[in-house]
Amino acid sequence: MTPLDRFRRIGRLVLGHYPTPVQEMARLRAHLRTRPRLWIKRDDWTGPGFGGNKVRKLEYYLWKALRQGYDTVITCGAETSNHCRVTAALAAQCGLECHLALNPAAQGGRPASLLLDELYGAVIHRVPGRDGRAPEMARLAGELRAAGRRPMEIPLGASTPLGALGFVHAVSELKTAPAVIVHSTSSGGTQAGLLAGLALFGFAGTRVVGVSADDPAAEIAETVRGIVARIEVDLGAPACSLQREILVDDRFTGPGYGVPSAESEEALRLLARTEGIVLDPVYTAKAFAGLLGLLRDGGLEGESDVLFWHTGGQLALFSAA
Ligand SMILES: Cc1ncc(COP(=O)(O)O)c(C=O)c1O
Repeated sequence: MTPLDRFRRIGRLVLGHYPTPVQEMARLRAHLRTRPRLWIKRDDWTGPGFGGNKVRKLEYYLWKALRQGYDTVITCGAETSNHCRVTAALAAQCGLECHLALNPAAQGGRPASLLLDELYGAVIHRVPGRDGRAPEMARLAGELRAAGRRPMEIPLGASTPLGALGFVHAVSELKTAPAVIVHSTSSGGTQAGLLAGLALFGFAGTRVVGVSADDPAAEIAETVRGIVARIEVDLGAPACSLQREILVDDRFTGPGYGVPSAESEEALRLLARTEGIVLDPVYTAKAFAGLLGLLRDGGLEGESDVLFWHTGGQLALFSAA
């Protein structure tokens, strides 16, 4: 059996709406006077839980949860976490109990995602900071098991070989191979899945540039490399056969995770006004600022087609009253 056959046999619950559209950004291109044609993949429209990239990853986890008889899911993130919100929504849809270990968001206030976590019925467990999330998940899992439940722990961002398969699958939606894909990267699963998917589906020439939302480029690249290596093992692919150059740009994180920069605010406004498409302030606006930076530096002048992969997250623009 080939690695692609093995991939196709892995169970997945289809919970989002696919393929997500690819739209040309002709007005933006005219505004910027750039040579490459610009496209955007609308994964902000995957659907459940207000959409975004996490739906794709969780489809693999939730298939496993239902198949293997888990009755509860536990995951973690910040109060603004898109991953936690989508997990809560999909858990409700699948009839699973959901527990979230959440640390306070940088922005203060009551994030819209937190309001939705509660609406979807998730049980919220507060931790003071990022470091407290994993231990709290482990503690919760123990407590729930002792109470007779069957909890499945889903690591941060579902950025594991299993979750990343969502983006291997996403690559199969591409009708043509762009020269470059630019997207937001953080816990690495999206980028790992895209890279493995491009290799698996034979899009050999496409470069992927992940623009960091927070961590240093070398750290994210190492995580991505590790996830791709474990996907190779899981699919029985020869070592390094799905690896390719891992490009992470960390020049656009600005003042820090979740804190807007002048460039990200400009990116958000420019795309909204030229194309009527809204980015989010934490991830995609910084990634789009990275795309604009590359276009303006002439770094993409030689390319024919550039695809920005919109990974969602716009609820971070709003706080609950
Ligand atoms: C909207 C959005 N875009 C991009 C990312 C980054 O994806 P990944 O964690 O797979 O690197 C995330 C999550 O971290 C996200 O919520």
